[in-house]
Amino acid sequence: MCKKVALLGAAGGIGQSLALLLKLNLPAKSELSLYDISPITPGIAVDLSHIPTDVNVTGYTGEDPREALENADVVVISAGIARKPGMTRADLFNTNATIVHNLVEKAAKICPKACIAIITNPVNTIIPIAAEVLKKAEAYDKNKLFGVTTLDVIRAHTFVAEAKNVNVKYVKVPVIGGHSGTTILPLLSQATVNGLKLEFTQAQIEQLTHRIQNAGTEVVEAKSGGGSATLSMAQAGAEFTLGLVRALTGEDVIRYAYVDNANGETSPAFFAYPIRLGKNGVEDVLPIGKLSDFEKDQLEQLIPVLEDEIELGQKFNKDA
Ligand code: NAI
Repeated sequence: MCKKVALLGAAGGIGQSLALLLKLNLPAKSELSLYDISPITPGIAVDLSHIPTDVNVTGYTGEDPREALENADVVVISAGIARKPGMTRADLFNTNATIVHNLVEKAAKICPKACIAIITNPVNTIIPIAAEVLKKAEAYDKNKLFGVTTLDVIRAHTFVAEAKNVNVKYVKVPVIGGHSGTTILPLLSQATVNGLKLEFTQAQIEQLTHRIQNAGTEVVEAKSGGGSATLSMAQAGAEFTLGLVRALTGEDVIRYAYVDNANGETSPAFFAYPIRLGKNGVEDVLPIGKLSDFEKDQLEQLIPVLEDEIELGQKFNKDA
């Protein structure tokens, strides 16, 4: 059955590139609806509609995302502001929390059964806010809410392939935890190429872990005030969204995402795990496997940080 994807924040740096990737790669007969407060959004849809693929694109602007959300199976949110040099993801909190709160509130009313994938930062805190909004609207399904952490995974693949001089196409590196600084935990002890375990020195492990955790800042600084990762994030967002759409049509798909931790192995209420996706969103949270002593130590340190960031979201009151 064909699916409808609604992309909110579609006129932004991530949104436009992600819309292009979805127009090119969604299954035939899919619907792609774009929404953004920017008045160019209907024009972005017209522009994309000239590309010859069998994906129907529509674009909406104004205060109300209703038309974009109607009958959506997947809602992807990249609406909000992005980081400038010197800013952490937490500095984005107040503005982005309110934007996502309001959009999720609309989605809960208009397409309560949709899967919601949120890219907007700070992911660690925004997902708990979205969960609270959905609970209040009696539309919460813990298997259908995702913080998109795929960028951490594709960065880990790229940096490990570079460091080990192997073909990135065959590299796999689990990345668990959250999506900010030290809460991002790459499991290099489980990294493989072509299914074979990769070996690292302790210095390499520390250097790669640090680079994966700070890769967002690397882009923010390199863009000198022009924003944060957009193109690599669009690719990551497409990998996640396309996988989710395939899963909703019955394929067995594995991805990493920041999800409700009711079925997980660690204590925070939300955590990024490997997950098996299926027709109802998350079908299974998969085990994180055996950690090295270094990773165990990093996990122990990140849990209280993540718990604080989650609590901030759970207590968020947009009218305060
Ligand atoms: P951007 O500023 O280029 O685009 C944001 C878009 O959101 C703009 O077009 C703006 O008009 C729109 N917008 C603002 N309020 C809105 C509302 N109420 N409804 C609909 N649209 C609205 O920013 P960019 O670079 O696209 O980043 C978007 C978000 O993604 C940021 O919060 C950024 O921190 C986050 N991000 C997340 C990553 C991740 O790995 N999860 C990686 C990189 C960025």
